[in-house]
Amino acid sequence: MSSNPAEQFYDRISHAYDLIADGGEHVARERGLQLLAPQAGESVLEVGFGTGHSLLAIAEAVGAEGKVAGVDISSGMKDVAAKRLQQAGVLDRVSLIVSDVPPLPWEDNQFDAISMSFTLELFASETIPAVLAECRRVLRPGGRLGVVSMATVADGDPESVLEKTYIWMHTHFPHIVDCQPIPLETVVESAGFEITKQERVDLFTMPVAIVVGVPQ
Ligand SMILES: C[S@@+](CC[C@H](N)C(=O)[O-])C[C@H]1O[C@@H](n2cnc3c(N)ncnc32)[C@H](O)[C@@H]1O
Repeated sequence: MSSNPAEQFYDRISHAYDLIADGGEHVARERGLQLLAPQAGESVLEVGFGTGHSLLAIAEAVGAEGKVAGVDISSGMKDVAAKRLQQAGVLDRVSLIVSDVPPLPWEDNQFDAISMSFTLELFASETIPAVLAECRRVLRPGGRLGVVSMATVADGDPESVLEKTYIWMHTHFPHIVDCQPIPLETVVESAGFEITKQERVDLFTMPVAIVVGVPQ
């Protein structure tokens, strides 16, 4: 068995993930993809694909001429996602890799767009710049990065008890709460992306930020 706690955790919950989390998260995840707007014929990467809902939507959007790739640390998630894609008849246009990010296991300049939902906030704060640098490296010039993430409350927005609770739990019990809200817009800009679209939605009062950025 793997000694990586994230891999073990997501392997264990892979079959229950949709029941546990996707009922709440799907609205923001789907809105993120609408804003990223994958086009027919594009080559698109999903980082942390989970149970594969976004991979399926991307595969349908890029069509038979397009290409989809996904990377996730969990082979359990890969099995669930592959089954979904197989049942929808689009597995042949999707390449799934099990790997611990970063790095991203692709050459430079491979993708027109990258999608990442409820995944960037799982990485340690000091690792997030490396994840985004890898996204820049594998994006083609002019490519788009779309990220959906639990976010810290923006200046002027109402307080969220849930946001504070997540931050406290992640600080004190990181083995139980593996994610923490992040200032997504600032994080993405600091990594050298120009934000072209941004929205915020609530998840049970927790702010969720959605951004699309292009490398500057
Ligand atoms: C909270 S789930 C979100 C899944 C999916 N993006 C969604 O929105 O439903 C996070 C996913 O990231 C994957 N993950 C966590 N840490 C990772 C890492 N270091 N490298 C690659 N994938 C990772 C997990 O296995 C899991 O599938």
